[in-house]
Amino acid sequence: MKLAIVYTSKTGHTEELVHFIRELFLEKNIEVHLFRVEHFPLQDLSAFDAVVIGTYTWGDGEIPEEMHILYRSFESQDIKHVVTGVVGTGDSFYPQFCGAVDAFRDMLYVHSNLAVTLKIEIALQTKDHERCQRFVEILWKKLKNGVRHHLAKT
Ligand SMILES: Cc1cc2nc3c(=O)[nH]c(=O)nc-3n(C[C@H](O)[C@H](O)[C@H](O)COP(=O)(O)O)c2cc1C
Repeated sequence: MKLAIVYTSKTGHTEELVHFIRELFLEKNIEVHLFRVEHFPLQDLSAFDAVVIGTYTWGDGEIPEEMHILYRSFESQDIKHVVTGVVGTGDSFYPQFCGAVDAFRDMLYVHSNLAVTLKIEIALQTKDHERCQRFVEILWKKLKNGVRHHLAKT
């Protein structure tokens, strides 16, 4: 099974989060590929069994500029079979806490096989580790079920 983690991070919080999530997936013996969004091969999107998106939130609850191209790729490709998850860091001082996670969630719910989302207040803390673990478990379960279903049909 092949999983991509595609992320962006300005000050490092989201980067730290996706690295932690990556370690948890590696414990499941999944092939994990980590990309900064600028380096992700958009044309290969459908070649992954699962994609995790990691994003901070900018402006007034908005998706960062550099993530727009990824957002549009999901919208325009036939990727209903790809299991997805969204993680993000944000600051609840802002009215739309982790608004970029919500925006990706709403789109991925329609265009992919969305499994789970996770919002972290500013930076990862020890108390968040269990929520990260749960994020990985939920996505992993959906991925396994999808593959079993696919095998059963062939
Ligand atoms: C100009 C500006 C606007 C922001 N707007 C929001 C927002 O609307 N909602 C939110 O939850 N966080 C907002 N944030 C907080 C960042 O998303 C948060 O600090 C995040 O952890 C940064 O992630 P990074 O370290 O990966 O770059 C904003 C931060 C800045 C500097």
